[in-house]
Amino acid sequence: MIKLPLIVLNFKVYSEAIGEKAVKLAKYAEEVSREYDVGLAVAPPTTELKTIVESVNIPVFSQHVDPHPCGSWTGGIVVEMLKEVGVVGSIVNHSEKRMILADIAIVLKRLKDNNLVSLLCTDTIETTKAGAALSPDIIAIEPPELIGTGIPVSKARPEIVQGAVEVVKKNNPSIHILCGAGISTGEDVAKAIELGAEGVLLASAYVKARDPKTILLSMADAALKAWENR
Ligand code: G3P
Repeated sequence: MIKLPLIVLNFKVYSEAIGEKAVKLAKYAEEVSREYDVGLAVAPPTTELKTIVESVNIPVFSQHVDPHPCGSWTGGIVVEMLKEVGVVGSIVNHSEKRMILADIAIVLKRLKDNNLVSLLCTDTIETTKAGAALSPDIIAIEPPELIGTGIPVSKARPEIVQGAVEVVKKNNPSIHILCGAGISTGEDVAKAIELGAEGVLLASAYVKARDPKTILLSMADAALKAWENR
């Protein structure tokens, strides 16, 4: 279900990723995944999940899921809803949708019990270590201060990527590790993989690009080359 190297495209709730525009962005990703032997996954806004799941044949993630069970939780997004809609899993604890540790633990367990993939976001080497103890399927380290800046974590903070890779592989080697924040070019993706990451999580450089498919093609190409040269 998880193909490496993995590029996860988080659409956030950018206006460029609502309605038909979200379908287009997901379809480009599907097209690129047919040309390159890399994992490509998308995380559209919640209201677009069902349409995207029905429109493309690549993994689709939710951007968030609440710890609650079904019931009296107005506005909630529960694991059972995600399962029903057909996504492969969910991002958990994104910097823009933080959760407390106890709830993260509940969510990870509920995702696992429902055979859904968990992609846990962390922000430091320390929280990565703590997150690894909870055994998510994937961790993505993203320094919040670089998110949306176009300054790539793989170049600006190589030590944080290497440090996260190290703690994950030492404590729980079955977890896949990605990095994100500011990833904008194929070169940024290649650098992340050279540092030991197994892929990237990115948003603005893809969603807000004038020509998203071309950018993604160059990222997939660079990812594959860096992966083969590891
Ligand atoms: O989830 C990805 C994200 O937080 C990074 O955002 O725009 O810097 O690629 P961006």
